[in-house]
Amino acid sequence: MHKDIDEILIPRAELEARVKALGEQISADYAGRTVTLVGVLKGCVLFMSDLAKCITVDTRMDFMMLSSYSGAHSTGVVRILLDLKESIEDCDVLIVEDIVDSGLTMEYMLQNLKTRRPRSVEICSLLEKPSRRKTTVPVKYSGFTIPDKFVVGYGLDYNGIYRNLPYIGVMKESAIERK
Ligand code: IMP
Ligand code: MG
Repeated sequence: MHKDIDEILIPRAELEARVKALGEQISADYAGRTVTLVGVLKGCVLFMSDLAKCITVDTRMDFMMLSSYSGAHSTGVVRILLDLKESIEDCDVLIVEDIVDSGLTMEYMLQNLKTRRPRSVEICSLLEKPSRRKTTVPVKYSGFTIPDKFVVGYGLDYNGIYRNLPYIGVMKESAIERK
């Protein structure tokens, strides 16, 4: 275990099993169609690459990078740093996100993508923290519901670090202060 991690919340094997199940569910729901995965960079990267390998229907992949304005707390005021390369008109879009916390980022994404006339848009998030939710965005595919703790690993970062950890871990308070 990494020295800055207090506790492994979701070990590697549990992530693998849940991601496989999500892939099977998505493959069944999108049978006969092409799904367009829209990953939210950078947190989606590890999750999306594993998930995509478990999807058996035709799959496109595109990415967006967003940044929330100011400070530690999500305001819901979002800036697009990198936009989709392709049109999603008439596409079945599945947003792939690392974690839905307040839900404000996903609310913005949904509104924004819907103006581009996709056939459908759904959300797939590896993690959900329901205790902090401020919106009612529907997360159709949800990996794990977690308590209100700051987690890192499997794509999630703290100040840009820890994304490569192969598990979801809770950070040590002492490490949060130092980094
Ligand atoms: P929301 O708009 O509050 O739902 O913000 C979600 C974003 O906040 C995620 O995409 C993450 O980048 C970040 N975030 C929220 N909770 C955590 C956490 O526990 N660890 C790392 N990043 C987090
Ligand atoms: Mg994110």
